[in-house]
Amino acid sequence: MWLLVVVVCFLVWAVGTYWYLFGKPSPFSVESVRPPGPLELDQKKRHKILKQGFRKEKVPENLDAIVIGSGIGGMTAAATLAKLGKRVLVLEQHDQAGGCCHTFTEKGFEFDVGLHYIGQLHENSLFKIVMDQITEGQLQFVELDKHIDTIVIGNGEKSRKYTIYSGKTEMEEHLKEQFPDDTKAVEEFFKIMKMSARKTHFLAALKLIPQWVALFLLKSGIANLCSSIFRLVGTNATAVADSLTSNKDLHIIFYYLFYGVPPKESSCVINALLLHHYKRGAYYPKGGASEIPFHITKVIQKFGGRVLVRAPVNRILVDNKGAAYGVTVKQDQEDVEVRAPVIISNCGVFSTFKKLLPSHIQSKPGQLFNH
Ligand SMILES: Cc1cc2nc3c(=O)[nH]c(=O)nc-3n(C[C@H](O)[C@H](O)[C@H](O)COP(=O)(O)OP(=O)(O)OC[C@H]3O[C@@H](n4cnc5c(N)ncnc54)[C@H](O)[C@@H]3O)c2cc1C
Ligand SMILES: *[C@@H]1O[C@H](CO)[C@@H](O)[C@H](O)[C@H]1NC(C)=O
Repeated sequence: MWLLVVVVCFLVWAVGTYWYLFGKPSPFSVESVRPPGPLELDQKKRHKILKQGFRKEKVPENLDAIVIGSGIGGMTAAATLAKLGKRVLVLEQHDQAGGCCHTFTEKGFEFDVGLHYIGQLHENSLFKIVMDQITEGQLQFVELDKHIDTIVIGNGEKSRKYTIYSGKTEMEEHLKEQFPDDTKAVEEFFKIMKMSARKTHFLAALKLIPQWVALFLLKSGIANLCSSIFRLVGTNATAVADSLTSNKDLHIIFYYLFYGVPPKESSCVINALLLHHYKRGAYYPKGGASEIPFHITKVIQKFGGRVLVRAPVNRILVDNKGAAYGVTVKQDQEDVEVRAPVIISNCGVFSTFKKLLPSHIQSKPGQLFNH
Protein backbone atom coordinates (compact mmCIF):
# COMPACT_ATOMS: atom_id res chain seq x y z
CA MET A 1 0.00 0.00 0.00
CA TRP A 2 2.69 2.49 1.04
CA LEU A 3 4.73 1.56 -1.97
CA LEU A 4 1.77 2.40 -4.18
CA VAL A 5 1.41 5.84 -2.55
CA VAL A 6 5.12 6.50 -3.03
CA VAL A 7 4.99 5.39 -6.67
CA VAL A 8 1.91 7.55 -7.38
CA CYS A 9 3.52 10.55 -5.68
CA PHE A 10 6.67 10.05 -7.71
CA LEU A 11 4.71 9.79 -10.96
CA VAL A 12 2.72 12.95 -10.21
CA TRP A 13 5.96 14.77 -9.43
CA ALA A 14 7.72 13.48 -12.56
CA VAL A 15 4.81 14.28 -14.90
CA GLY A 16 4.32 17.68 -13.22
CA THR A 17 8.00 18.55 -13.57
CA TYR A 18 8.05 17.40 -17.20
CA TRP A 19 4.97 19.50 -17.97
CA TYR A 20 6.41 22.47 -16.12
CA LEU A 21 9.67 22.33 -18.04
CA PHE A 22 8.62 21.14 -21.48
CA GLY A 23 4.83 21.23 -21.73
CA LYS A 24 4.47 24.95 -22.31
CA PRO A 25 4.85 26.55 -25.73
CA SER A 26 8.36 27.86 -26.28
CA PRO A 27 8.73 31.38 -27.65
CA PHE A 28 11.80 30.20 -29.51
CA SER A 29 12.02 28.23 -32.74
CA VAL A 30 14.75 27.42 -35.25
CA GLU A 31 12.48 28.53 -38.13
CA SER A 32 12.22 32.10 -36.86
CA VAL A 33 15.91 32.74 -37.56
CA ARG A 34 16.48 34.13 -41.07
CA PRO A 35 19.78 34.82 -42.84
CA PRO A 36 20.77 38.45 -42.05
CA GLY A 37 19.62 41.16 -44.45
CA PRO A 38 21.81 44.08 -45.60
CA LEU A 39 22.80 46.71 -43.01
CA GLU A 40 20.38 49.63 -42.94
CA LEU A 41 22.59 52.70 -43.23
CA ASP A 42 19.92 55.27 -44.05
CA GLN A 43 19.60 57.25 -40.79
CA LYS A 44 16.06 58.37 -41.64
CA LYS A 45 14.92 54.77 -41.99
CA ARG A 46 16.67 53.86 -38.74
CA HIS A 47 15.04 56.73 -36.89
CA LYS A 48 11.62 55.56 -38.13
CA ILE A 49 12.18 52.45 -36.02
CA LEU A 50 14.25 53.79 -33.13
CA LYS A 51 12.64 57.20 -32.61
CA GLN A 52 8.89 56.66 -32.67
CA GLY A 53 7.53 59.39 -30.40
CA PHE A 54 4.81 58.57 -27.89
CA ARG A 55 1.25 59.59 -28.69
CA LYS A 56 -1.85 58.03 -27.19
CA GLU A 57 -3.16 57.14 -30.71
CA LYS A 58 -0.04 55.07 -31.37
CA VAL A 59 -0.68 52.76 -28.41
CA PRO A 60 -1.94 49.39 -29.72
CA GLU A 61 -5.30 48.22 -28.38
CA ASN A 62 -5.68 45.27 -26.02
CA LEU A 63 -2.12 45.29 -24.79
CA ASP A 64 -0.88 42.17 -23.03
CA ALA A 65 2.05 43.86 -21.30
CA ILE A 66 3.83 47.17 -20.83
CA VAL A 67 7.59 47.31 -20.39
CA ILE A 68 9.13 50.41 -18.81
CA GLY A 69 12.55 51.19 -20.29
CA SER A 70 13.99 50.11 -23.64
CA GLY A 71 17.37 48.83 -22.43
CA ILE A 72 18.47 45.35 -23.41
CA GLY A 73 16.66 43.91 -20.38
CA GLY A 74 13.28 45.44 -21.24
CA MET A 75 13.64 44.76 -24.96
CA THR A 76 14.55 41.12 -24.37
CA ALA A 77 11.52 40.62 -22.12
CA ALA A 78 9.29 42.39 -24.66
CA ALA A 79 10.57 40.43 -27.67
CA THR A 80 10.28 37.11 -25.83
CA LEU A 81 6.66 37.89 -24.93
CA ALA A 82 6.03 39.07 -28.50
CA LYS A 83 7.28 35.75 -29.81
CA LEU A 84 4.75 34.07 -27.55
CA GLY A 85 2.10 36.04 -29.45
CA LYS A 86 1.74 38.81 -26.87
CA ARG A 87 1.17 42.44 -27.77
CA VAL A 88 3.72 44.48 -25.85
CA LEU A 89 4.29 48.21 -25.50
CA VAL A 90 7.77 49.39 -24.53
CA LEU A 91 7.89 52.91 -23.10
CA GLU A 92 11.18 54.81 -23.18
CA GLN A 93 11.79 58.26 -21.67
CA HIS A 94 14.73 59.14 -23.95
CA ASP A 95 14.28 60.29 -27.56
CA GLN A 96 15.45 56.94 -28.91
CA ALA A 97 15.24 53.29 -27.98
CA GLY A 98 18.10 51.19 -26.63
CA GLY A 99 19.09 52.44 -23.15
CA CYS A 100 22.83 51.77 -22.74
CA CYS A 101 22.76 50.27 -26.26
CA HIS A 102 21.76 53.49 -28.01
CA THR A 103 24.18 55.48 -30.11
CA PHE A 104 24.40 59.13 -31.16
CA THR A 105 26.06 60.94 -34.04
CA GLU A 106 28.25 63.98 -33.69
CA LYS A 107 29.94 65.69 -36.65
CA GLY A 108 29.22 62.69 -38.83
CA PHE A 109 30.65 60.10 -36.44
CA GLU A 110 28.55 57.58 -34.57
CA PHE A 111 29.32 56.95 -30.90
CA ASP A 112 28.28 54.19 -28.52
CA VAL A 113 27.25 55.27 -25.05
CA GLY A 114 28.46 52.09 -23.40
CA LEU A 115 29.18 48.90 -25.25
CA HIS A 116 32.78 47.93 -25.90
CA TYR A 117 32.32 44.22 -26.51
CA ILE A 118 30.12 41.30 -25.54
CA GLY A 119 31.31 37.79 -24.67
CA GLN A 120 29.93 34.25 -24.80
CA LEU A 121 28.62 34.69 -28.34
CA HIS A 122 30.37 31.70 -29.93
CA GLU A 123 28.24 29.35 -32.04
CA ASN A 124 25.57 27.52 -30.02
CA SER A 125 26.25 29.52 -26.86
CA LEU A 126 23.17 30.49 -24.87
CA PHE A 127 23.67 34.22 -25.58
CA LYS A 128 24.07 33.63 -29.30
CA ILE A 129 20.87 31.61 -29.43
CA VAL A 130 18.94 34.21 -27.44
CA MET A 131 20.30 37.09 -29.55
CA ASP A 132 19.42 35.21 -32.75
CA GLN A 133 15.92 34.54 -31.47
CA ILE A 134 15.05 38.06 -30.32
CA THR A 135 16.36 39.58 -33.56
CA GLU A 136 15.33 36.68 -35.80
CA GLY A 137 18.94 36.26 -36.86
CA GLN A 138 19.32 39.84 -38.11
CA LEU A 139 21.96 40.99 -35.63
CA GLN A 140 25.47 40.05 -36.68
CA PHE A 141 28.52 40.00 -34.48
CA VAL A 142 32.16 40.36 -35.40
CA GLU A 143 34.76 38.69 -33.22
CA LEU A 144 37.55 40.93 -31.97
CA ASP A 145 41.20 40.05 -32.16
CA LYS A 146 42.47 37.53 -29.55
CA HIS A 147 44.18 40.43 -27.78
CA ILE A 148 41.03 41.94 -26.27
CA ASP A 149 42.41 44.35 -23.69
CA THR A 150 45.49 46.23 -22.54
CA ILE A 151 45.73 47.31 -18.93
CA VAL A 152 48.16 50.05 -17.99
CA ILE A 153 48.83 50.51 -14.28
CA GLY A 154 50.56 53.65 -13.01
CA ASN A 155 52.01 56.68 -14.78
CA GLY A 156 55.24 57.57 -16.50
CA GLU A 157 58.36 55.47 -16.01
CA LYS A 158 56.76 53.33 -13.32
CA SER A 159 53.84 52.26 -15.46
CA ARG A 160 53.28 48.56 -16.15
CA LYS A 161 51.44 47.21 -19.15
CA TYR A 162 49.56 43.91 -19.25
CA THR A 163 47.52 42.34 -22.01
CA ILE A 164 44.46 40.10 -21.89
CA TYR A 165 43.93 37.42 -24.48
CA SER A 166 40.71 35.56 -25.07
CA GLY A 167 40.70 31.82 -25.67
CA LYS A 168 39.60 28.79 -23.68
CA THR A 169 43.17 28.02 -22.56
CA GLU A 170 45.05 31.05 -23.94
CA MET A 171 43.56 33.53 -21.46
CA GLU A 172 44.97 31.65 -18.48
CA GLU A 173 48.29 30.75 -20.16
CA HIS A 174 48.88 34.31 -21.27
CA LEU A 175 48.33 35.63 -17.74
CA LYS A 176 50.70 33.04 -16.30
CA GLU A 177 53.39 34.19 -18.72
CA GLN A 178 52.97 37.75 -17.46
CA PHE A 179 52.91 36.70 -13.79
CA PRO A 180 55.48 33.87 -13.65
CA ASP A 181 55.77 34.08 -9.82
CA ASP A 182 52.01 33.81 -9.36
CA THR A 183 50.99 30.95 -11.61
CA LYS A 184 49.24 29.21 -8.68
CA ALA A 185 47.16 32.30 -7.95
CA VAL A 186 46.15 32.57 -11.61
CA GLU A 187 45.20 28.89 -11.66
CA GLU A 188 43.09 29.28 -8.51
CA PHE A 189 41.35 32.31 -9.89
CA PHE A 190 40.51 30.47 -13.10
CA LYS A 191 39.05 27.65 -11.00
CA ILE A 192 36.84 30.20 -9.25
CA MET A 193 35.83 31.59 -12.66
CA LYS A 194 34.88 28.16 -13.93
CA MET A 195 32.97 27.26 -10.79
CA SER A 196 31.14 30.60 -10.79
CA ALA A 197 30.07 30.08 -14.40
CA ARG A 198 28.93 26.51 -13.84
CA LYS A 199 27.07 27.08 -10.60
CA THR A 200 25.30 30.42 -11.04
CA HIS A 201 22.06 28.53 -11.74
CA PHE A 202 22.16 27.42 -8.08
CA LEU A 203 21.87 31.08 -7.13
CA ALA A 204 19.01 31.56 -9.58
CA ALA A 205 17.30 28.49 -8.09
CA LEU A 206 17.22 30.21 -4.69
CA LYS A 207 15.09 32.95 -6.26
CA LEU A 208 12.62 30.46 -7.72
CA ILE A 209 11.80 28.56 -4.53
CA PRO A 210 9.70 30.05 -1.69
CA GLN A 211 11.72 32.60 0.28
CA TRP A 212 11.43 30.73 3.60
CA VAL A 213 12.87 27.57 2.03
CA ALA A 214 15.75 29.58 0.55
CA LEU A 215 16.46 31.23 3.92
CA PHE A 216 16.32 27.87 5.66
CA LEU A 217 18.80 26.33 3.20
CA LEU A 218 21.17 29.27 3.62
CA LYS A 219 20.95 29.69 7.39
CA SER A 220 21.10 25.99 8.22
CA GLY A 221 24.28 25.66 6.17
CA ILE A 222 22.68 23.01 3.89
CA ALA A 223 23.28 25.29 0.88
CA ASN A 224 27.01 25.46 1.69
CA LEU A 225 27.14 21.68 1.79
CA CYS A 226 25.57 21.50 -1.69
CA SER A 227 28.03 23.86 -3.35
CA SER A 228 30.80 26.25 -2.37
CA ILE A 229 29.24 28.85 -4.70
CA PHE A 230 26.99 29.90 -1.80
CA ARG A 231 29.97 30.75 0.42
CA LEU A 232 31.86 32.34 -2.44
CA VAL A 233 29.02 34.60 -3.51
CA GLY A 234 29.08 36.24 -0.09
CA THR A 235 32.84 36.77 -0.16
CA ASN A 236 34.07 40.11 -1.45
CA ALA A 237 36.47 40.33 -4.37
CA THR A 238 39.29 41.93 -2.35
CA ALA A 239 39.17 39.15 0.25
CA VAL A 240 39.57 36.50 -2.46
CA ALA A 241 42.38 38.36 -4.23
CA ASP A 242 44.21 38.83 -0.90
CA SER A 243 43.93 35.11 -0.19
CA LEU A 244 45.45 34.23 -3.56
CA THR A 245 48.37 36.63 -3.87
CA SER A 246 49.94 39.78 -2.50
CA ASN A 247 50.73 41.02 -6.01
CA LYS A 248 48.63 44.20 -6.32
CA ASP A 249 48.95 44.29 -10.11
CA LEU A 250 47.43 40.83 -10.32
CA HIS A 251 44.60 41.99 -8.05
CA ILE A 252 43.85 44.68 -10.62
CA ILE A 253 43.93 42.15 -13.47
CA PHE A 254 41.45 39.95 -11.64
CA TYR A 255 39.06 42.83 -11.12
CA TYR A 256 39.70 45.41 -13.81
CA LEU A 257 36.35 44.70 -15.47
CA PHE A 258 34.53 46.73 -12.90
CA TYR A 259 30.91 47.86 -13.07
CA GLY A 260 30.76 50.72 -10.64
CA VAL A 261 31.10 48.89 -7.31
CA PRO A 262 34.57 48.73 -5.69
CA PRO A 263 35.98 45.18 -5.35
CA LYS A 264 35.90 45.29 -1.55
CA GLU A 265 32.15 45.79 -1.69
CA SER A 266 31.30 43.40 -4.50
CA SER A 267 30.96 39.64 -4.62
CA CYS A 268 34.01 37.90 -6.05
CA VAL A 269 31.61 35.78 -8.13
CA ILE A 270 30.42 38.69 -10.25
CA ASN A 271 34.01 39.75 -10.94
CA ALA A 272 35.03 36.21 -11.81
CA LEU A 273 32.03 35.92 -14.12
CA LEU A 274 32.96 39.13 -15.94
CA LEU A 275 36.39 37.85 -16.90
CA HIS A 276 34.95 34.42 -17.69
CA HIS A 277 32.46 36.14 -20.00
CA TYR A 278 35.28 36.98 -22.43
CA LYS A 279 37.12 33.68 -22.25
CA ARG A 280 35.58 32.42 -25.48
CA GLY A 281 36.14 35.68 -27.30
CA ALA A 282 34.82 39.25 -27.36
CA TYR A 283 32.34 40.42 -30.00
CA TYR A 284 31.04 43.70 -31.35
CA PRO A 285 27.71 44.15 -33.16
CA LYS A 286 28.21 44.79 -36.87
CA GLY A 287 26.85 48.28 -37.52
CA GLY A 288 27.21 49.44 -33.91
CA ALA A 289 25.23 49.05 -30.70
CA SER A 290 22.04 50.62 -32.06
CA GLU A 291 21.64 47.55 -34.26
CA ILE A 292 20.52 45.77 -31.09
CA PRO A 293 17.37 47.87 -30.38
CA PHE A 294 16.84 48.37 -34.14
CA HIS A 295 16.28 44.68 -34.82
CA ILE A 296 14.52 43.81 -31.56
CA THR A 297 12.00 46.63 -32.14
CA LYS A 298 11.08 45.09 -35.50
CA VAL A 299 10.34 41.75 -33.82
CA ILE A 300 8.15 43.43 -31.18
CA GLN A 301 6.27 45.28 -33.96
CA LYS A 302 5.82 42.16 -36.03
CA PHE A 303 3.62 40.75 -33.29
CA GLY A 304 1.51 43.89 -32.91
CA GLY A 305 3.56 45.63 -30.23
CA ARG A 306 5.41 48.96 -30.29
CA VAL A 307 8.41 50.73 -28.85
CA LEU A 308 7.60 54.37 -28.17
CA VAL A 309 10.11 56.98 -27.05
CA ARG A 310 9.79 60.37 -25.31
CA ALA A 311 7.49 58.45 -23.00
CA PRO A 312 8.58 59.05 -19.40
CA VAL A 313 6.53 56.82 -17.12
CA ASN A 314 5.84 58.65 -13.88
CA ARG A 315 3.53 56.18 -12.12
CA ILE A 316 2.67 52.51 -12.06
CA LEU A 317 -1.05 52.19 -11.39
CA VAL A 318 -1.90 49.67 -8.69
CA ASP A 319 -5.42 48.59 -7.70
CA ASN A 320 -6.57 48.13 -4.09
CA LYS A 321 -5.54 44.47 -4.16
CA GLY A 322 -1.98 45.52 -4.95
CA ALA A 323 -2.02 44.36 -8.59
CA ALA A 324 -0.52 46.64 -11.23
CA TYR A 325 -2.93 47.44 -14.08
CA GLY A 326 -1.27 50.26 -16.01
CA VAL A 327 1.07 53.23 -16.04
CA THR A 328 0.87 56.95 -16.63
CA VAL A 329 3.12 58.66 -19.15
CA LYS A 330 3.95 62.32 -18.73
CA GLN A 331 3.21 64.25 -21.91
CA ASP A 332 2.96 68.05 -22.15
CA GLN A 333 2.24 68.50 -18.41
CA GLU A 334 -0.48 65.89 -18.69
CA ASP A 335 -0.58 62.30 -17.45
CA VAL A 336 -1.67 59.86 -20.15
CA GLU A 337 -2.96 56.56 -18.79
CA VAL A 338 -2.06 53.31 -20.56
CA ARG A 339 -3.40 49.99 -19.30
CA ALA A 340 -2.24 46.38 -19.53
CA PRO A 341 -2.63 43.36 -17.26
CA VAL A 342 1.13 42.93 -16.92
CA ILE A 343 3.64 45.69 -16.14
CA ILE A 344 7.35 44.97 -16.34
CA SER A 345 9.70 47.60 -15.04
CA ASN A 346 13.23 47.64 -16.42
CA CYS A 347 14.21 51.09 -15.27
CA GLY A 348 16.00 49.99 -12.12
CA VAL A 349 14.79 48.87 -8.73
CA PHE A 350 15.31 52.28 -7.09
CA SER A 351 13.32 54.25 -9.66
CA THR A 352 10.62 51.60 -9.68
CA PHE A 353 10.10 51.59 -5.93
CA LYS A 354 10.96 55.17 -5.07
CA LYS A 355 9.36 57.01 -7.98
CA LEU A 356 6.84 54.83 -9.78
CA LEU A 357 5.02 52.75 -7.18
CA PRO A 358 2.50 54.24 -4.73
CA SER A 359 3.85 55.11 -1.30
CA HIS A 360 2.03 52.31 0.57
CA ILE A 361 3.89 49.76 -1.58
CA GLN A 362 7.20 51.58 -1.23
CA SER A 363 6.95 51.08 2.51
CA LYS A 364 5.82 47.45 2.28
CA PRO A 365 7.44 45.95 -0.84
CA GLY A 366 6.54 42.42 0.31
CA GLN A 367 2.85 43.16 -0.32
CA LEU A 368 3.47 43.64 -4.00
CA PHE A 369 5.08 40.25 -4.37
CA ASN A 370 2.14 38.52 -2.73
CA HIS A 371 -0.09 39.32 -5.68
C1 LIG B 1 30.02 53.14 -20.09
C2 LIG B 1 29.47 51.73 -20.12
C3 LIG B 1 30.15 50.72 -20.80
C4 LIG B 1 29.64 49.44 -20.87
N1 LIG B 1 30.30 48.47 -21.59
C5 LIG B 1 29.78 47.24 -21.73
C6 LIG B 1 30.41 46.27 -22.55
O1 LIG B 1 31.42 46.52 -23.16
N2 LIG B 1 29.85 45.03 -22.63
C7 LIG B 1 28.70 44.72 -21.97
O2 LIG B 1 28.22 43.59 -22.08
N3 LIG B 1 28.08 45.64 -21.19
C8 LIG B 1 28.59 46.87 -21.07
N4 LIG B 1 27.96 47.80 -20.29
C9 LIG B 1 26.80 47.39 -19.53
C10 LIG B 1 25.54 47.30 -20.38
O3 LIG B 1 25.53 48.35 -21.32
C11 LIG B 1 24.35 47.41 -19.45
O4 LIG B 1 24.46 46.48 -18.40
C12 LIG B 1 23.04 47.13 -20.14
O5 LIG B 1 22.96 47.77 -21.38
C13 LIG B 1 21.93 47.58 -19.20
O6 LIG B 1 20.68 47.29 -19.76
P1 LIG B 1 19.37 47.51 -18.93
O7 LIG B 1 18.25 47.06 -19.78
O8 LIG B 1 19.48 46.88 -17.61
O9 LIG B 1 19.27 49.05 -18.59
P2 LIG B 1 19.43 50.38 -19.45
O10 LIG B 1 20.12 50.15 -20.73
O11 LIG B 1 19.99 51.39 -18.50
O12 LIG B 1 17.93 50.76 -19.80
C14 LIG B 1 17.05 51.38 -18.92
C15 LIG B 1 16.17 52.31 -19.74
O13 LIG B 1 15.09 52.74 -18.95
C16 LIG B 1 14.80 54.07 -19.30
N5 LIG B 1 14.01 54.64 -18.22
C17 LIG B 1 14.39 54.90 -16.95
N6 LIG B 1 13.38 55.43 -16.24
C18 LIG B 1 12.32 55.48 -17.08
C19 LIG B 1 10.98 55.95 -16.94
N7 LIG B 1 10.52 56.43 -15.77
N8 LIG B 1 10.16 55.87 -18.01
C20 LIG B 1 10.59 55.37 -19.19
N9 LIG B 1 11.86 54.94 -19.37
C21 LIG B 1 12.70 54.99 -18.33
C22 LIG B 1 16.16 54.70 -19.48
O14 LIG B 1 16.08 55.90 -20.23
C23 LIG B 1 16.89 53.57 -20.20
O15 LIG B 1 16.77 53.70 -21.59
C24 LIG B 1 28.44 49.12 -20.22
C25 LIG B 1 27.74 50.13 -19.54
C26 LIG B 1 28.23 51.41 -19.49
C27 LIG B 1 27.44 52.49 -18.79
C1 LIG C 1 35.65 41.91 2.69
O1 LIG C 1 35.89 40.65 3.25
C2 LIG C 1 36.80 40.67 4.35
C3 LIG C 1 37.09 39.22 4.75
O2 LIG C 1 35.90 38.49 4.90
C4 LIG C 1 36.20 41.47 5.51
O3 LIG C 1 37.09 41.52 6.59
C5 LIG C 1 35.91 42.88 4.99
O4 LIG C 1 35.24 43.60 6.00
C6 LIG C 1 35.03 42.83 3.74
N1 LIG C 1 34.91 44.17 3.22
C7 LIG C 1 33.75 44.82 3.13
C8 LIG C 1 33.79 46.22 2.65
O5 LIG C 1 32.67 44.27 3.41
